[in-house]
This record gives sequence, structure tokens and C-alpha cells, in this order.
Amino acid sequence: MGRVDLFEYQARDVFEASGVPVLRGIVARTPQEAFDAASRLGSPVVVVKAQVKTGGRGKAGGVKLAHSPQQAAELAEQILGMDIKGHTVAQVMVAEGADIAEEYYFSMLLDRTTGGYLAMCSREGGVDIETLAVERPGALAKVWIDPLIGLDDAKAAEIVKAAGFAEMDQSAIAAVLVKLGEVYRTQDATLVEVNPLVKTGSGQIVALDGKITVDDNAAFRHPEWADFADTGADDPLEVRARALDLNYVKLDGTVGIIGNGAGLVMSTLDVVAAAGADLPGHPKPANFLDIGGGASSSVMANGLEIILSDPQVKSVLVNVFGGITACSEVAKGIIDALAILGDKASKPIVVRLDGNAVDIGRHMLAEAAHPLVQLETTMDAAAHKAAELAAA
Ligand SMILES: Nc1ncnc2c1ncn2[C@@H]1O[C@H](COP(=O)(O)OP(=O)(O)O)[C@@H](O)[C@H]1O
Ligand SMILES: [Mg+2]
Repeated sequence: MGRVDLFEYQARDVFEASGVPVLRGIVARTPQEAFDAASRLGSPVVVVKAQVKTGGRGKAGGVKLAHSPQQAAELAEQILGMDIKGHTVAQVMVAEGADIAEEYYFSMLLDRTTGGYLAMCSREGGVDIETLAVERPGALAKVWIDPLIGLDDAKAAEIVKAAGFAEMDQSAIAAVLVKLGEVYRTQDATLVEVNPLVKTGSGQIVALDGKITVDDNAAFRHPEWADFADTGADDPLEVRARALDLNYVKLDGTVGIIGNGAGLVMSTLDVVAAAGADLPGHPKPANFLDIGGGASSSVMANGLEIILSDPQVKSVLVNVFGGITACSEVAKGIIDALAILGDKASKPIVVRLDGNAVDIGRHMLAEAAHPLVQLETTMDAAAHKAAELAAA
């Protein structure tokens, strides 16, 4: 039997549609989108949450509070591309920040040995369930649910009692558990887990983190599951580049390419491919990377970092035509980038500059005399040099 885990944001959507209280949340794939999402939410505190199909995101640094859209964008930049237990973060959810008074745990799952359902509930949520089950087994209530009846009001009352909730909280929590039981049934789920289920400062019960596992044998009943297709298969370098707002596409060659302006980068790819055609191993472009008009040193450093962390890359070609940005700026960008990267820069870099302030730019690079950098004056010569270095 196939099982499909939903992302947290998808679980949040399902919860919302089923009347489980949740906070508003918006998915973002870039820092700019995170900025916009935080602005739209408009709450004084938002939380930026890595969307990966594994628990323990908080501990891994994948769940962070932001106090402004700007900060949300900065945190998104940190979190996007992060590796959490082997999962690359391709998207984050920007959600309203909760005023948490207490954190609880609830799950409902299929017990394969009996075919029945097991509900687990604790007043001590937030920590992972394995830890709780081992260290504080008495704090974790386990209640069996008859699949023919499901999680009805009476069963919910039994669960909250077994978990030892304060009398005054019991009915509000039980009402949420009944809704979660409906999610379990209507979604053909094998697991619905909420950790934490929280009580807020004003006494609301809210599901802050949700996990739903569905049985994909039931897919024919759920055309909406087509939306759950995993986007986690994106290339990790592309994910990282997107987080840095770089226009990068990974290709499968060995010559890293950086240029400014999509047109120039496209023709650079052609020239490199043509230069490589006559060489042993036929080196080809390793990527498309357009650093845009304003090639500041940090943009250049980010671009070089992405390209140099591609293990397939053997040489790099920087092909910049100084227009709005003077070549002296670009040269400074390259020099600063190499200083920032230090030992991480380990592959030969061929630089061709032309246009605005080209003499100053070339002079600066010649002065700096970085051992990895070689200057060429024409695009053709630069492409040949970079291809030769990748062929060697
Ligand atoms: N919307 C939110 N507002 C405030 N704090 C949050 C919010 N979402 C999560 N948290 C806090 O971060 C912790 C970890 O988040 P969670 O979504 O449970 O991720 P994970 O279980 O993968 O670590 C929660 O226990 C909670 O304390
Ligand atoms: Mg959690």
C-alpha cells in the first residue's frame, strides 16, 4: 500500500477546510515572496517555516520568528536551500505568529495489527513523540477508537480526560479532536498528527503544526491530491540560487558560466559549447546564471559560490559587459567575491570584461593577480580558454 505524506502547508489547508482552527499561512519559494506573504498577513509576528516532509524542523533551525516582512525575507533566505535530515528546503510557509500559552500533542493513526485506530494525546506537546513516549510514558494517553464509530464526541471526551487536561479546557479541546477525527475519515488518512496543538494566551485552541499521511489506494476518491505532488525533487543548487534571487539553471556540463543579461549569457553558452566541441571530452556549459544589471560584489560572490559548489564544474567563465554597471564595479565584485569565498574558490576562473570603464576593470584584476583568475579580452578567446581548462 502506498502512503503519501502531505506538507505542513497542505495539512494546514485541509484542516482549515475541515473546520480545525489554524492560523493563516502562505507558501513562499523566494525571499521576495516571503516578504510579500508577511506583508499580506500583516501580523506583528510571523513565523517562517521550512516545508519538508520530516519532523524536528524547529530544532534544525527551520522554524524562525520574524518581526517584520524584511526579517521574514532574510530568514527565508537562510532557510531556503537548507538541508534538514536529507531534505532540501524548496519552500517555506510564512504563518501568523501564535501567542503560545501551552503546547499539547495529538495523533490518530491506523493500527495495522488490529485494523483499529489509536489516538494518542498529551498535555506535554512540542517535543517529539518518540522522546515523550520514552521519557514520560505516563504523560501520553492512548485510547483505542472503533473504526465503525470513529472519533465522536464521547470518544473525544474520553481522550481529553485520559490526557489529564484541566476541566475548563476539556470541551474546547475535545471539539477540535472531533474535527481532526473528521479529517482522518474524510481524507482516507492513516495518520493525522498535530504537534503542537496549542492554547493561546486568549484561550483559543489552535493546530500549529500538522502532519497528514494518506493512503494513496484511495486516490481515486481524491482528485485534489494531484496538488500534493512533491516539489522536493528540485535541484538543490537551483533551490539555493532561487533563495538568493539569482536566475540560475543547472545544466550538465563542466564549464560554469556567469554573465550579466540573459541575452549575453545565452550567447556565452553557445560560444562555450562550440569551443568545447573540438576538445577532448567535449566540455559543455554547466549552468545558466544571469547576475543581472547591478553586479555588486555580494551578487557576484553568491553567483560564484553557487557555481563553485557544483561538483561537476571544472572551470568558470565570467563574461560581463559593462553597461549601467561599470567594469570597475564588476572587477571589484570578483575580487571581493574571491576574498569572501577564500578556500572555497578552488577552480580556475576566466574573466572577460568589456564596455563601460573596461580599462580600469582589467587593470584592477591584473593588480589583484589572484592565482585562479585569468583575463581574456574577447568572448571567443575566453570561451576557448575556459573550455580548455575544463577539458584538461
Ligand atoms: N505559528 C507559530 N507561531 C509561534 N510559534 C510557532 C508557530 N509554529 C511553530 N511554532 C513553534 O515552533 C515549534 C516547532 O514548530 P513545528 O511546526 O512543530 O515544527 P517541527 O515539529 O518540525 O519542529 C513549535 O513547537 C512552536 O513552539
Ligand atoms: Mg511539530
